Amino acid sequence: FHYHQPVNEPVLSYAPGSRERKALQEALKTLKSKTHDIPMYIGGQEVRSNKTFTLRAPHETAHEIGQFHVSDRSHINQAIEAALAARERWANTSWEHRASIFMKAAELLATKYRFVMNAATMLGQSKNAFQAEIDSACELIDFLRFNVHFLSNIYSEQPISPQGFNNRIEYRPLEGFVVAITPFNFTAIGGNLPTAPAMCGNVVVWKPANTQVLAASIFMQILIEAGLPAGVINLIYPSGSEIGDVCFNHADFSGIHFTGSTGVFQQIWSTIGANIGKYKTYPRIVGETGGKDFVFAHPTANADAVVANLVRGAFEYQGQKCSAASRAYIPSNLAEEIKSKLIAEIKTLKMGPVDDFTNFVNAVIDEKSFDKLASYIDNVKNSNGAAKIIAGGGYDKSKGWFIEPTVIEASDPKYVTMCEELFGPVLSLHVYEADQWEATLKVVDETSPYALTGAIFAQDRYALEAMTQKLTNAAGNFYINDKPTGAVVGQQPFGGARASGTNDKAGAPLNLYRWLSFRTIKETY
Ligand code: NAD
Ligand code: ALA
Repeated sequence: FHYHQPVNEPVLSYAPGSRERKALQEALKTLKSKTHDIPMYIGGQEVRSNKTFTLRAPHETAHEIGQFHVSDRSHINQAIEAALAARERWANTSWEHRASIFMKAAELLATKYRFVMNAATMLGQSKNAFQAEIDSACELIDFLRFNVHFLSNIYSEQPISPQGFNNRIEYRPLEGFVVAITPFNFTAIGGNLPTAPAMCGNVVVWKPANTQVLAASIFMQILIEAGLPAGVINLIYPSGSEIGDVCFNHADFSGIHFTGSTGVFQQIWSTIGANIGKYKTYPRIVGETGGKDFVFAHPTANADAVVANLVRGAFEYQGQKCSAASRAYIPSNLAEEIKSKLIAEIKTLKMGPVDDFTNFVNAVIDEKSFDKLASYIDNVKNSNGAAKIIAGGGYDKSKGWFIEPTVIEASDPKYVTMCEELFGPVLSLHVYEADQWEATLKVVDETSPYALTGAIFAQDRYALEAMTQKLTNAAGNFYINDKPTGAVVGQQPFGGARASGTNDKAGAPLNLYRWLSFRTIKETY
């Protein structure tokens, strides 16, 4: 049974006066009209604990979204037991039936639940309507449909069998349970991390970031409505350290599907390494982590293209995409034009809550992130000329966690904001001497430990080729004359190497292979 290649889910425009805009506004209003009591989902049952955590909208901290029920060690253990109890039946469920569940979930998401999912992402994670649409609707739907298609292809691959033998491969799920730990910034990643292993016949314990719980719990309800059997995916809300303590100490732990910061992933890897003798099988470790994504403009670049892509790459979703442009290298011959156009463009960006669809910039995720960004900005103000703020630089937490889109110009290409991941609407820019563009590529390559995304701009074809070669290992997703954000499932498999992850490419066959354990069978006639 083969699932053909789907087309990407069309992006709705939410134009003023459109039916979809009205529907989304209505969904947002309904979601805001009550406080939500959000349970865990263990073994197909809603589970509540006696400890809750209050969720607030990042752009309107006076608004209480609701409470989720915090998981303790006993809930983590229950989730593992529910997963293991479901394992054999799920692993033996035919591919056609498994696929059908995820295809139905994609359909429910595209139709009945599209607006409520987008509204949840807007409210809980402070994404505007357009950013929510490409995340919690299109990208998540694409992950589900394309992964079904890729897995269908994988299952059809068989070795050759000369006369007298039959050789075959059985694509077994891993032996044990998989843990999915997901970040705040993409609802689609939240949905993909547990479903990709589950699609392969694995059972999963899923822990989302606290600020993603509203959207995650709605997605879980969609999976249940689509027919996902009890225990296949179990959604719980423990602390990061507790899930590690329990899951990574368990003999049946068989894999981690993680997206989040580099530091947390390294900690997880160390724990797994320290426990390696306890497991029945070597666990699969798949992690997509931090970035310090670059934009390099060559002296022949088109200045308008650089400006337009810097604005979108650096400031959409407040720079909180792992792929966001956060350091730019501008040649001296174009510096004045690019800087003045960039500053003028940034002044047109409206900032405010998500309810007003004309706001391009919304709030950063939480107080910790706000304080971190404000402190980097303050340090620039006190940097004695090593760096200066040329746009924005303001911040305000009176109503929500608002940081103005900010551009820092650093005379030193190794200034701290050119090297570290800030994860906010703060772009650092360095002007280099135009005749030194080749030497500057070495700086781009060596400045940060990350290698997630990067973009180069030039009109000279030989320069494009030279830059592409010199920056071979600087980015897992490399863009030519385009912004470094916005990878589309099925078009640009996504992931980075070095400190940015294991580069197992989300939304591509490679990722799915990681959740399969082959059995090779040779039968002699
Ligand atoms: P984070 O690392 O703070 O949290 C990610 C998840 O890990 C959350 O669910 C969190 O609760 C959990 N966690 C925290 N401490 C833990 C521990 N000790 N053990 C186990 N789990 C723990 O990241 P975030 O702030 O949610 O997301 C932003 C980060 O994610 C950025 O660094 C960004 O670059 C990265 N990211 C990378 C990609 C990618 O594809 N490379 C995509 C999205 C986000
Ligand atoms: N798909 C997201 C992007 O490329 C992660 O920005």
